[in-house]
Amino acid sequence: MKYVQLGNSDLNVSRVCLGCMGFGDASQGMHSWTLPYEPSKEIIEYAVNQGINFFDTAMAYQGGTSEEYLGKAIKECARREDVVIATKFHGRTKEQIQQGITAKEHIETCLDNSLKRLQMDYVDLYILHAWDQLTPIEETLEALNEMIQKGKVRYIGVSNCYAWQIAKANEIAKAHQWQPFISVQGHYNLIFREEEREMKPYCDLHHVAMTPYSALASGRLAKHPGEQSKRLIEDTYAKGKYDASAQKDLEIIKRVEELALKHQVSMSEISLSWLMHQVTSPIVGATKLHHVDTMVKATDLQLNDEEMAYLEELYEPHRLVGVMAEQRK
Ligand SMILES: NC(=O)c1ccc[n+]([C@@H]2O[C@H](COP(=O)([O-])OP(=O)(O)OC[C@H]3O[C@@H](n4cnc5c(N)ncnc54)[C@H](OP(=O)(O)O)[C@@H]3O)[C@@H](O)[C@H]2O)c1
Repeated sequence: MKYVQLGNSDLNVSRVCLGCMGFGDASQGMHSWTLPYEPSKEIIEYAVNQGINFFDTAMAYQGGTSEEYLGKAIKECARREDVVIATKFHGRTKEQIQQGITAKEHIETCLDNSLKRLQMDYVDLYILHAWDQLTPIEETLEALNEMIQKGKVRYIGVSNCYAWQIAKANEIAKAHQWQPFISVQGHYNLIFREEEREMKPYCDLHHVAMTPYSALASGRLAKHPGEQSKRLIEDTYAKGKYDASAQKDLEIIKRVEELALKHQVSMSEISLSWLMHQVTSPIVGATKLHHVDTMVKATDLQLNDEEMAYLEELYEPHRLVGVMAEQRK
């Protein structure tokens, strides 16, 4: 496994991060396809043994059970200090604001609940899950910095935002001598490349780590056209993100398949090798042990300039989807 510095932090993370949204109680959250504890633990332990030290979860995943499963598994198969744990929180709801709950109270409560579920006394990276439209960013940053001072959080990151938002936040942090967001978790893969417009140049310039999610387009960039899986059938949220452009995206997916055949590797390796060339550490979901193997092997696969251009050639700008589209409403 290869390792890389996570932006301007002293965290040394594997070149791939294991996404834990697919682990958790399927009866409790938005996904019906998630894995129960034992197979989740098997995948987490397998990943640890392959050298993956970076894990991403969120309080929102399956009613908090993703955090519970990750924490329990790490306790059983790794040393806390050897892994980098990222989890996420959402800003306050309108109702919570009306009840008089401050941003600081809300963030500390969310964090304490996550730590309890994870059975940990700190998280390495605490991430604002989506830009908070209801709270001035100063309040969020101040509260997060207090959590850092209390030793409950090492670094902070942000997910699902525009480049101007993190640029503004990090300038405010600098002016107050607070810790800035060191990483961005955006939606970025071979068939959704809108982060290249402004976010990637910003991150490259300021050495902010890019840790994109849905690196395989929730499986579409890892499966042969026509192949099916429980998740591909049941994950209606991902369908909502990819169905509208599926016809055009298919031509790019076919090129991934073609290069996989040429290199005698899996499609996942081709897609991830391309993405690793652009970013710090992509977040990849796995529901089978062999998915972890392909994540690991991708770190050793080098595509040449011609192959990179071939994969990129057909892409046309896409409409925003998922959380970023919901924020525009
Ligand atoms: N911040 C956010 O808003 C946000 C949003 C989404 C996700 N995330 C994070 O990003 C992580 C990854 O996202 P994701 O699960 O949507 O997307 P992904 O990594 O693009 O896709 C994961 C899926 O790809 C398939 N797969 C993986 N390796 C494969 C292989 N070698 N061969 C065939 N299929 C393979 C599996 O599908 P099957 O299970 O169908 O086989 C797996 O469930 C999540 O776990 C979460 O941590 C964050």
